[in-house]
Amino acid sequence: MLRFHAAVLAFFLSLSVLFSFCHGTRPLPGDAGEGLSIFRYAEAPEYRNGVGCPAPPPNNGDRRRPVSICDASLVHIAMTLDSEYLRGSIAAVHSVLKHASCPENVFFHFIVARSDPASPRVLTQLVRSTFPSLNFKVYVFREESVKALISSSIREALENPLNYARNYLGDILDACVDRVIYLDSDLVLVDDVGKLWSTTLGGSRVVGAPEYCHANFTKYFTDGFWADPMLSRVFAARRRRPCYFNTGVMVIDLVKWREGKYRRRIENWMEVQKSKRIYELGSLPPFLLVFAGNVEGIDHRWNQHGLGGDNVKGSCRPLHPGPVSLLHWSGKGKPWARLDARKPCKLDFLWEPYDLFLHNNNGSGEDIRVRGRRVMGGGASYSSSCL
Ligand SMILES: *[C@@H]1O[C@H](CO)[C@@H](O)[C@H](O)[C@H]1NC(C)=O
Ligand SMILES: *[C@@H]1O[C@H](CO)[C@@H](O)[C@H](O)[C@H]1NC(C)=O
Repeated sequence: MLRFHAAVLAFFLSLSVLFSFCHGTRPLPGDAGEGLSIFRYAEAPEYRNGVGCPAPPPNNGDRRRPVSICDASLVHIAMTLDSEYLRGSIAAVHSVLKHASCPENVFFHFIVARSDPASPRVLTQLVRSTFPSLNFKVYVFREESVKALISSSIREALENPLNYARNYLGDILDACVDRVIYLDSDLVLVDDVGKLWSTTLGGSRVVGAPEYCHANFTKYFTDGFWADPMLSRVFAARRRRPCYFNTGVMVIDLVKWREGKYRRRIENWMEVQKSKRIYELGSLPPFLLVFAGNVEGIDHRWNQHGLGGDNVKGSCRPLHPGPVSLLHWSGKGKPWARLDARKPCKLDFLWEPYDLFLHNNNGSGEDIRVRGRRVMGGGASYSSSCL
């Protein structure tokens, strides 16, 4: 299992720039079909359980038959899946499987917006063709329910309602799923997700996430919020000082979540926001209002966030010091966009090995050099040449 440490990353990066990454490539599985022609992804290698894993849930030998979601040996991961960030989601799934000790015990729950330009059916087919033996289920998210709750500032009107899907996991996922890891689509794991899964949520803690107590917590809320004692006293009752946490990586106890009606608590703050303007950002502040100061602090290695760079300038960000288990391109820039534009940040080369997107050479028969990988023919198959 690969484990990354900031100290060895410089060496690793210099290698990656020189040699690119060589990984097994194979022909596309048949014709992906009309509806999928805009989505060209290579089939991921098949990842199998190592020794010491619990027996993977039975599917009577048919790897395409869904396993029981209620099987106690499963590691549940929820992610959104949409046309815009599809390439990121596919890379994220790939990274989880590649580094998991027990990939056959991982179960993905994908939330798809009903209004997505690629239909839920097409996105399901795409996941199936890219990861033929993956355990997963696709859920259709009705954005109307949350749209009414999103206050209508310009910024929020532009925001994807799927950002709010993480608030509905307790309702969307089957009742027998009692814990879930929520992951954003712009990240990759470089460590075993089983370690994150085994996080203990102590006492009454409902959510676990890395906390950032040096971040200026005040700025996530408006002056009006802090000036109103009825509102800002919400943090006074907390056991600890409230700190910022990023909602892109969370371990959630769904039993406590459902019992404590946390979806409703978050919605209540969204309703306050509609009349009072207590924060500027969209989906994050209600989570801070409900959980900050009551979060189970997970090691920072599980969310090295901000790699997307500055929100205004989109500049490159370095890693924080310390070990790294998860790299998160939160912020403006996304690694696939910067790599395609040939303006990558150094750390984007750490995302690239998980990318399964096939660049279309449009059937011209010419070779297109994609960072050292030779793509041949009309896109029906390709071979790899590692420099
Ligand atoms: C934190 O942010 C608030 C609001 O933007 C600002 O008034 C305050 O000076 C900041 N505090 C520190 C320690 O930077
Ligand atoms: C692919 O080919 C078609 C027709 O030959 C052309 O219109 C289109 O612009 C090409 N697309 C790319 C990405 O080269």
